[in-house]
Formats: sequence, C-alpha cells, structure tokens
Amino acid sequence: MTNIAVFASGNGSNAVNLVKAFNSGSRIHVALCLTDKENAPVIEKMKDLGVETIYFPRSIWKEEPGIIVDTLRAHDIRIIALAGFLCFLNEEIVSAFEGKILNIHPSLLPAYGGKGMHGANVHKAVIEAGEIKSGATVHVVTNEMDAGPIILQREVDVIPDDTPESLEAKVHEVEYRIFPEAVVKLVSSLTPPAVPQSVDDAWAEALGVPNNVPPVPKGAQQPVYVNSQANPAPHPNQNIEPRPASHMGQPHPAAQSEPMPPTFLVWSVVCTILCCTIPGIVAIINSAKVSSKFYEGDMDGARRASRNAEIWIIISFVLGVISNTLYIPLSIAGLF
Ligand code: GAR
Repeated sequence: MTNIAVFASGNGSNAVNLVKAFNSGSRIHVALCLTDKENAPVIEKMKDLGVETIYFPRSIWKEEPGIIVDTLRAHDIRIIALAGFLCFLNEEIVSAFEGKILNIHPSLLPAYGGKGMHGANVHKAVIEAGEIKSGATVHVVTNEMDAGPIILQREVDVIPDDTPESLEAKVHEVEYRIFPEAVVKLVSSLTPPAVPQSVDDAWAEALGVPNNVPPVPKGAQQPVYVNSQANPAPHPNQNIEPRPASHMGQPHPAAQSEPMPPTFLVWSVVCTILCCTIPGIVAIINSAKVSSKFYEGDMDGARRASRNAEIWIIISFVLGVISNTLYIPLSIAGLF
C-alpha cells in the first residue's frame, strides 16, 4: 500500500476525485489531507470521505516546515499531491519529498505559470489573450514555481463564447483524468515490481497499463506524455517566451514516453504451475525484471527481459507438454 497526502486550499474537487479514484481497493491510498485555509470547503468534503484532515496556519507552513514533514512521516506518506494548494512550499518540505510531490496546474505549462497564476486568474488570462487552446498539466514540484518536470499534460479547446467559468469546467474535466493517472505513474516509478494482487492487477501489469484508473471515454483526447528535457510541451501562446527546457529540470522517471514492453507475468505464472516449474521460475524472474529495468530508464534491458521471459515461457510449455505426454504411457507401462 502506498499512502499519499493531498494538500488543498479551496474547493477540493481534485482532492475528492483522487480519493474516489484510489480509496476503494487500490494499492494507493489517500491517507491524509493538509490545508492552509481554516474554512476551506475541502475540509468538510474530506471528512465526509473519511480522510483525516489537518489545518496548519500559514505561519507553520512558512516558519516551521519540520512540523509538516513530521506529520507526513507519522502517517507514512510516500507521495504528495498538490490539488489546488495555494501556499508556496517551503524548501525543507520539497527536499524531504524530493521528486515525490506532484502539482496540478490549470494551463499548458510553461505558459500561464508562476506567481499569481492560479485557478480563475489563469482562465481569465487565457481568454483575455485570445488563446485557442488551454489545458492542464501535472508536474513534479521543485523549488521553482510551476517549473518542475512535466509528467502529463492535456489540451482543451478555447472557443470564442468561453468565460473563465466555462473554461474552468472544461479544464477540471481533464484534471480529473490526468491527476490520478500521473499519481499512478509516479507510484509505479518508485515502487519495486510487486507480485500482482489480483487477476486484474496481473493483466494490468502484463499489459503495461495501470489498474484502477478510470478509463478514458471513447472520443476523449488522450493525455500527452511529456519527456520534459527532450520534448517540451508545445507552447500555446506565441506572445509568451516558452521557458527553456533546462528550466523544466531533469526528466523524471515517471515521464518515460515509450511504453513498457510486455512482462508476460501471467503466462510465466501459468506455465510455472501447469507446465515445467524451473523454466517457469526463470520466466517469472525475467517478467519481474521488465518493469524494474523500464523504471530505471533501461529500455534495452526491459526489452531483453521481456524477450527472455517469452523464450522461457515457451521452453516451460514445450517441456511441460513433453513430460506430460511421456508420463501417461510410462505410468501405464508401470514405470512410474
Ligand atoms: C485546479 O484547477 C488546479 O489546477 C488549480 O486550482 C484548481 C483547484 O480546484 N491549481 C492551481 O492553480 C495551482 N497553481 P479544486 O479545488 O476544485 O480542485
């Protein structure tokens, strides 16, 4: 189980969405919500969902960040999701959870990011600038505002009739899809490959897709996977200089753009049980290596492990068929 915390300052619709995506039977659990606003609507919503919620005044966030870090450690929090959190995070918190804090931002970063750019301000600025595209971005938090490596980004169309409210509603829709997906990517990049917990998990792993994330509806736009160093996001506003790629930091393991090769884990397990055990075990070891190599960024190693898993599955199958075929006549002949 991977515990995550959400930090939120306002309505908390993204926080609620994360709880609904994860807190019923998934291996990820929203265990804690922290806020910097005493009367934020998110507090009641989280309590209704049974998520422990704590308010810390801004003075604690800014001057005593160690209290926040201790609270997170006491709840065994591994990942933090900033879901409309409007207090700039103290360096001590960022370094205690380096690479493990995600922020959702309501624009196509690097456009419309930085100081003062949050929530409705962003949508207002996008409309005033006459943009035809906006969107949402999930990125890793660093000490520079809205500038960490991008994990996922998805566009929405801006039409002439759009108001800041209508644009916000469209952006929220894509946020509800890409934020849980980005959390799954980050968790997968940090967690060593585990033995699948259920048949669904096994298939999800074998197919290289996250289990328990709401599917993208037919016709909906697919998320854009961005490797921030090699391939910065297309810039939607020609009037604003895009930040150079170096501003977006090092590529994060969760930002791998090539899909993981098949692990064949299910077939390895099936062959170990039903066919020949020893080659089956070798196949399982290679299946497990696929995801670990992939998340280490070793694509060649992942492909090699995938191919080896496939070969050992075939060996296990063939030996299983041969030994079962010989066993029956030999046992009839009384030799077994
Ligand atoms: C979201 O649109 C999120 O992207 C934005 O605040 C909104 C919170 O909505 N975050 C920022 O602007 C951070 N710079 P919610 O409270 O309904 O989830």
